[in-house]
Amino acid sequence: MTGDAPVKSILELSAFDPIAKADPHARLKPLRETCPVWRDETTKTWFLSRYADVRGVVNDRTMWRGGERAEIGSFSRLLLDESRLHEPPGERQSILTMDEPDHSRIRTPLSKAFYARVAKSRPKIDRIVSDVLDSVQEKAEFDLIDEVAIPIPIVAIARILGVDDQRLEEFRDWSEGVILGLNPVRTPDETAHMERSQTAMTAYFTELMAARRKSGADDLVSDMVQLQAEGADLSDTEIRTNLLALLVGGNLTTTDLIGNGVRLFLLNPAQKAKLVADPALVPQAVEEILRYEGPVDITGRVLPEDRVVGDCPMKQSQSVMLGLRSANRDPAVFERPDDFDITRKGTPHVSFGGGAHICIGAPLARMEAASFFSTFFQRFPRLRIAEAGEPQWRALPFFRGMERFRVAV
Ligand code: HEM
Repeated sequence: MTGDAPVKSILELSAFDPIAKADPHARLKPLRETCPVWRDETTKTWFLSRYADVRGVVNDRTMWRGGERAEIGSFSRLLLDESRLHEPPGERQSILTMDEPDHSRIRTPLSKAFYARVAKSRPKIDRIVSDVLDSVQEKAEFDLIDEVAIPIPIVAIARILGVDDQRLEEFRDWSEGVILGLNPVRTPDETAHMERSQTAMTAYFTELMAARRKSGADDLVSDMVQLQAEGADLSDTEIRTNLLALLVGGNLTTTDLIGNGVRLFLLNPAQKAKLVADPALVPQAVEEILRYEGPVDITGRVLPEDRVVGDCPMKQSQSVMLGLRSANRDPAVFERPDDFDITRKGTPHVSFGGGAHICIGAPLARMEAASFFSTFFQRFPRLRIAEAGEPQWRALPFFRGMERFRVAV
């Protein structure tokens, strides 16, 4: 299935490509229809675009995740710092790209503590959403991304971690800095901001862990040092790296879930009317935003042995990219896949991936979005898009969100 694919490289499926940036489905649909299991020789990677194939591989816990054992030169090795391969996995990477046994060793205590924190965070999240909306309430026009969708996840994770109030402004600046690491085409200024932020954030987490060891508080940093003291096999570096991963994985994605969702409702007034009339639809609406315009395009796995996937023979160590966005619009499983319909029921989307690596932040992202969409259109009932024309999509490959989104009250 490598022959006449309608694209030449998977980069043409990302926001690097002007057509995919404007509408990723203009590229994904023809690929799914003609070459659903496609080998991109330029990046030495398979790309799966049908729901059944994507779901099968993403849920398969025998697949490898990290790039160490992936074919040299393949896409899966991109996130790998080859110069640090001699270091133990926990010292050089987060759970995002880690394999067993280290992945479970770290993810199990982290998720236990994090899920318990998230479960009791709804009142906190509601307050954060309300405060952020208060800050724009009197404005005739504002940038929904910069003034609303960026601060909500940053403040939410700060509160869960236990960041001190006096450090919140700095924490926001560092959080915006560390996620610049997701952008491979940074300006020199952005790289400097990123490096400064990583150093500052690492120093701050070290300080916070020491403080919480002396005197515990009601926060995730205290939970993690407590679990370590009780015998969880976690080094200080592993705790710090994975707390940082919560920011890198969670901030921009949740920003985009909110931004993309508001835009979808403003473009679909009948759906907005349904949401406002029946707040019980909020959880389903959040799932439909995730399906229809999820923040993340792809995730990846590596073949642990020679296998046949989607009727194609694949080799051990080959890299496989899973087209989450394409799978979510596959007509084989979603009726009218290109309609945004918040009353939709049935097959779940794959926007959070699946299996052992399923997004650890999904409960928090869902909670923030549910809190937001429960009140937003009630508080801004006449909101409209302030700038005509196509939105300014961010040029970040394999993520989908807007650079800015001016709305008028
Ligand atoms: C709408 C928002 C979000 C989306 C669409 C999203 C999407 C994803 C996806 C696709 C993966 C890879 C899953 C796989 O390979 O099977 C992932 C992993 C991850 N996400 Fe999220 N994410 C979101 C929010 C968050 C939040 C709020 C956090 C943290 C607070 C977070 C932290 C992580 C981490 C740490 C991983 C790695 C998990 C592992 O490999 O074990 N994400 N996310």
